[in-house]
Amino acid sequence: MLTLSVIKADTGGWVGHSAVHPAMVARAEQAVDAARGDLLLDGQVATCGDDLSLIMTHEHGRDADAVHRFAWDVFLQTTEVARGLGLYGAGQDLLSDAFSGNLRGMGPGYAELDLTERPSEPVLCFLADKTEPGAWNLPLYKMFADPFNTAGLIIDPHMHDGFLFEVYDLFEEKRLVLDCPTELYDLLMLIGAPARFVVHQVVSKTLQEAAAATSTQRLSLIAGRYVGKDDPVMIVRCQSGLPAVGEALEPFSFPHAVAGCMRGSHHAPLMPVAAADAHPSRFDGPPRVICLGYQVHEGRLVGPRDMFADPAFDRARAQANEVMDYFRRHGPFEPHRLPLSDLEYTTMPSVAKRLADRWEPFAPAESAMSLADSASPAGQRPGRH
Ligand code: F6R
Ligand code: MG
Ligand code: MG
Repeated sequence: MLTLSVIKADTGGWVGHSAVHPAMVARAEQAVDAARGDLLLDGQVATCGDDLSLIMTHEHGRDADAVHRFAWDVFLQTTEVARGLGLYGAGQDLLSDAFSGNLRGMGPGYAELDLTERPSEPVLCFLADKTEPGAWNLPLYKMFADPFNTAGLIIDPHMHDGFLFEVYDLFEEKRLVLDCPTELYDLLMLIGAPARFVVHQVVSKTLQEAAAATSTQRLSLIAGRYVGKDDPVMIVRCQSGLPAVGEALEPFSFPHAVAGCMRGSHHAPLMPVAAADAHPSRFDGPPRVICLGYQVHEGRLVGPRDMFADPAFDRARAQANEVMDYFRRHGPFEPHRLPLSDLEYTTMPSVAKRLADRWEPFAPAESAMSLADSASPAGQRPGRH
């Protein structure tokens, strides 16, 4: 059994929160090179915005102490590089002082998937910046449950039975599995609320294997305070009874609105871009997604291909820019700004405290009428216009 692990962290931004410095990438690459053929079968380093990802194949299974410890050590090293260059927010996602067992709850995000390698194994790794794990809900629904997106659901006999969706409730820390298409409406009731319910895994009923996995950590819940957006990653296996590569990319032709832009507190469109353009700048956004495609062969990562470096996604990018203009014109109003309960930054407690004594009950109907009477000429009540 082979495991594909994508483990990521923001260990410092260059400049602000917009990118990872090349010296950090070089340090991570040195570490991955040294581990290749030993701990790892193969490994690569990739970035999206200010997040650095380690894309690794190995035989230690998911949540393996050795692999997670390796990633943690790499992130400590990139933090050191970031500190040396005075980069912004150095070590921001490393929430714990010491590693203990695995990375759950420690800050870095990870998506891991066990697979029995098929004769040809096409895999897509999606990396996003300035958003949260729930951003994958809509694309995953489209890939694995929407026949208007994925033709194979109707015409491929290996897909026709559908898929199992494992959903996490991040607020109550519990999970359930929904069987689609039978339980499609229940699925949508939940995952349409992506701040709380997140698709963690998708399993093929026919192949009896995982088809997709996401990172589902919410840093703000882990840390109990704002520590940066989760900037999630996702792995999707493709072809031969799973969505074709083109079916897995198709949902991103619609730049759907996601939470996470600017101070983790705004909705903005998710823009699919080539790796070279994954550097959010305007209003710390718009949020970006890149897709690195690999053929996994005998554990080796043959790739990456930069899947969104394709003019076919130009319209999605143009639409994302238009939608960004539209959202920005709302300024501090919802739905650009997130609802009060979801803000990562807030002054609400101090504002509420300061204004607490100045609130009054609504005036009773009579006194409201007398106010209106006194305001209108000759004491007459204003008519309706
Ligand atoms: C970081 C992010 C940014 C920051 C913003 C303010 O992932 O989304 O939008 O929240 O740049 O950062 P601070 O508070 O560090 O000045
Ligand atoms: Mg950052
Ligand atoms: Mg980030």
